[in-house]
Amino acid sequence: MSPLTNAQTRDIETLIHPYTNLDAHRNTGPTILESGKGIYVQDSQGKQYIEGMAGLWCTSLGYGNEELIETAREQLSRLSFTHLFGGKSHDPAIALAEKLKEISPAPASKIFFSSSGSEANDTQIKLAWYYNNARGLTEKKKIISRLRGYHGVTIATASLTGLPANHADFDLPIDGILHTACPHHYRNAEAGESGDDFSTRIANELDEMIQREDPDTIAAFFAEPVMGAGGVVVPPESYFAKIQGVLAKYDILFIVDEVICGFGRTGEMFGSQTFDLKPDTVSVAKAITSAYSPLGAITVSEDVYQAMLDESRKIGSFGHGFTYSGHPLSTAIGLKTLEIYERDNIIGHVKSVAPVFQSRLAALSSHPLVGEARGVGLLGAVELVADKTSKTPFDPKIGAAAHASRLCEEEGLITRAIFGDALAFCPPLIITEAQVNDMFDALERGLNRSLDALKTAA
Ligand SMILES: Cc1ncc(COP(=O)(O)O)c(C=O)c1O
Repeated sequence: MSPLTNAQTRDIETLIHPYTNLDAHRNTGPTILESGKGIYVQDSQGKQYIEGMAGLWCTSLGYGNEELIETAREQLSRLSFTHLFGGKSHDPAIALAEKLKEISPAPASKIFFSSSGSEANDTQIKLAWYYNNARGLTEKKKIISRLRGYHGVTIATASLTGLPANHADFDLPIDGILHTACPHHYRNAEAGESGDDFSTRIANELDEMIQREDPDTIAAFFAEPVMGAGGVVVPPESYFAKIQGVLAKYDILFIVDEVICGFGRTGEMFGSQTFDLKPDTVSVAKAITSAYSPLGAITVSEDVYQAMLDESRKIGSFGHGFTYSGHPLSTAIGLKTLEIYERDNIIGHVKSVAPVFQSRLAALSSHPLVGEARGVGLLGAVELVADKTSKTPFDPKIGAAAHASRLCEEEGLITRAIFGDALAFCPPLIITEAQVNDMFDALERGLNRSLDALKTAA
């Protein structure tokens, strides 16, 4: 390993890195990125990479988009900040809220802005509680999410998140958050169980959980159309229809977390459309601005809005909001991003390159390290296993996916090692067919190079 540079040493002595083994980081140091153009980024040593993760599932229009840069410059020159508190407003927030209402897969009466997906989902929980208090249903407060779901890192949203590292030693989850089964057929189905039978079984388990807890105590159910950080879990075809059937029986809000799937990732504008979901409300973030500025949002239905009006009359104000709710820079960029998605037919583009992406991905199922290759649209993952036939995972101490991800980086491709030794791919949506092939060529080289080391370690 080459000696650490001055900038790497300064990093180690100053920064706390999210989702990083802080101890190992002291030896390896950071990869410092300096510039980006299109689907490529460059590090401080001048090495170029395909950004195969679109940052963190977010830079849909890639890097160096001049229209977004110019929109940011214009907005900052005209009005760098105004908030939405106490009835202040500004045009980009109004116009983006109008646009989101128009395209939302949930019945949207109003839009509330945050700066992140966590804040959006945190607001969803607060509104579910607020709504039920307004309706006099003061016991109807528990929230159900799924094992391996990812909804953020605030105290409440990390509690929803169903991943062990988000709970361990943080004293989470908080009371009132329940986790139900993850719809991962490859890992969780019983021997010989079809996708449909598996879905029936876990929908029945959800029903039993609700009855056991008492339906009058359950406010909402959270789900991502495709679980992202939990392993890129694409549910069996009939799963959501069965889950929605259960929720409908008990007056439980269906909150769909579109933070990764929203804005074209799965081949439709929203994952809700790809999987035929009927959400009561959705949370969005990430690709809403193609990550040129932080922004999150939730839709508010007319019923919930009417309850909020009642509460405002009673309490005197809606007591929630962030300094940067609807920040002019972020909302102006969001508006321009959505305009570009529409004008350049980004969904059509995703539909045209996704078949190549999915066929190269599917071909990896025969790789000796790959237990399952799965995905939809321009989203995918391979799950690495020590033994393909028995599906035996690698010992987590080996860090198999992290090892393969490092070798892919050496081959010029950024991927991400996520839960369950899966390696995730989520390139910018502007990726071309030729670049998809380059990406999978680099991935194959990385996996092939990992083979010997990982088979020996296993
Ligand atoms: C599905 C989903 N929801 C919520 C979040 C949290 O968003 P943020 O990191 O912006 O708080 C993420 C982040 O990756 C996510 O993938």
